[in-house]
Amino acid sequence: MGEFNNKTAIIPGGATKIGAAIARAFIAQGANVVIADIDVTAGQNLAQELGENAFFLTTDICQDDDIQTLVDFSTSKCGSINFLVNVASTYLDEGAESTRAQWLDALNINVVSSVMLMQAARSELAKNQGAIVNFGSISSRIAQTGRWLYPISKAAIIQLTKSQAMDLASDNIRVNAVSPGWTWSNIMDELSGGDRKKTDQVAAPFHLQGRTANPEEVANTVLFLCSDKASFINGTDIRVDGGYSTMGPEGSEPAIPKLMA
Ligand SMILES: NC(=O)c1ccc[n+]([C@@H]2O[C@H](COP(=O)([O-])OP(=O)(O)OC[C@H]3O[C@@H](n4cnc5c(N)ncnc54)[C@H](O)[C@@H]3O)[C@@H](O)[C@H]2O)c1
Repeated sequence: MGEFNNKTAIIPGGATKIGAAIARAFIAQGANVVIADIDVTAGQNLAQELGENAFFLTTDICQDDDIQTLVDFSTSKCGSINFLVNVASTYLDEGAESTRAQWLDALNINVVSSVMLMQAARSELAKNQGAIVNFGSISSRIAQTGRWLYPISKAAIIQLTKSQAMDLASDNIRVNAVSPGWTWSNIMDELSGGDRKKTDQVAAPFHLQGRTANPEEVANTVLFLCSDKASFINGTDIRVDGGYSTMGPEGSEPAIPKLMA
């Protein structure tokens, strides 16, 4: 028995480390979760691990038919849809050289698809005074060399969150975002060869906490935003970035003493 008993969260992109932490946290609080991903193996394994309240549905979030099937499946299997947690995204990005097709793919996966899911689930969410959590990033607010598509799509998510909150408030649906800093995730795992310590060392100079986030720390914030404790929080984003966005270009080392060195 928990805070989210008999409530259902749909998690597109839920087959990742971050998605799995969110799914685990919802299950621990009594919710049903529907993991919707194109990664069939990881999604099926996760649903099996999480038990009878977890479901996996192979879903390409760019396909409207898949979105409708996802909404129908969640409603019929679980009885309601209370939360959408839009984790799915792509890091596809060739910076200044990105082609039109790459631009459209990145924006389709990272921005447009979550809106199509919102449209399909809106009436169910409205019935249940539901909540949507979108995924921004530290990349929503700063420029990163060689990267255009991802930061621009993540900046759009912050604005989208405001627009959605504005127009869904009349349905009693709250919409917020989380903006994580570097988080121990599949991409970090792959790029570092599974070396968390090295990943933390690289992240240390630009995160005040001196490390990457645990997926569970992001998940905690998602659950808070879905909970009644966040009942008056709407249209904003919470930066789960270990102080990344607080630091200026001087970093956390005192710069003035360098004048005297
Ligand atoms: N990893 C980080 O450090 C970090 C930092 C800031 C923000 N974020 C955000 O957190 C979220 C998760 O990040 P991650 O690093 O775990 O991402 P990831 O790329 O590892 O995972 C994305 C997931 O989305 C799924 N997906 C991709 N296209 C899909 C489609 N068309 N339909 C359905 N599913 C699809 C993938 O299969 C995968 O499971 C993303 O929104 C990302 O922008 C991550």
